Amino acid sequence: MPDPTDRFFVSTDQAALEMDVIHGFLSTCYWSPGIPRTTLERAIRNSLCFGVFDRQASARPAQIGFGRVISDFATYAYLCDVFVLPTHRGLGASKLLMREILAHPDLQGLRRFALLTRDAHRLYEQFGFKPRTDGGKAVLEIHAPDVYRRGAERPC
Ligand SMILES: CC(C)(COP(=O)(O)OP(=O)(O)OC[C@H]1O[C@@H](n2cnc3c(N)ncnc32)[C@H](O)[C@@H]1OP(=O)(O)O)[C@@H](O)C(=O)NCCC(=O)NCCS
Repeated sequence: MPDPTDRFFVSTDQAALEMDVIHGFLSTCYWSPGIPRTTLERAIRNSLCFGVFDRQASARPAQIGFGRVISDFATYAYLCDVFVLPTHRGLGASKLLMREILAHPDLQGLRRFALLTRDAHRLYEQFGFKPRTDGGKAVLEIHAPDVYRRGAERPC
């Protein structure tokens, strides 16, 4: 496989992010269907975001991937909303993204770096993510998967 850095680069510049691309994907994917654009804009503003860009796009580099980190930048981080557009999969873009995320200076020395995934374990395991093994401790959460369809009702 060619070196993905020849074609792709990663940027944390929020001004460079292409909201149409990000909202287009995240509002139709399985984990955040229907997410309102204003909600996503707020989430992005308050997160450390990584855009993946394709240098080979016709006019200027075009965004083809994304990842968002929610963190206190000292002890804990949560990685979410990772995607590469279907047209650009299998080219190493997500591995480049993961390398850049894990090398970011504000995400060093954390006690826990967490993520949830349905089927991309093989990607994350290459970067040291493992299923939780601290026996006896359960993960508790309030989960409202249809929150964008129900409006502002309380999750139950
Ligand atoms: C998962 C995703 C980001 C991978 O992007 P990609 O750029 O095509 O991945 P890469 O080409 O960099 O390959 C990454 C590695 O992970 C593996 N991988 C990628 N997607 C995978 C998946 N869905 N299941 C299992 N392994 C996967 C690849 O086989 C590759 O492993 P290899 O080096 O051993 O060959 C992309 O398929 C995607 O956007 N999927 C839909 C959204 C999604 O599921 N995001 C993850 C949410 S946790």
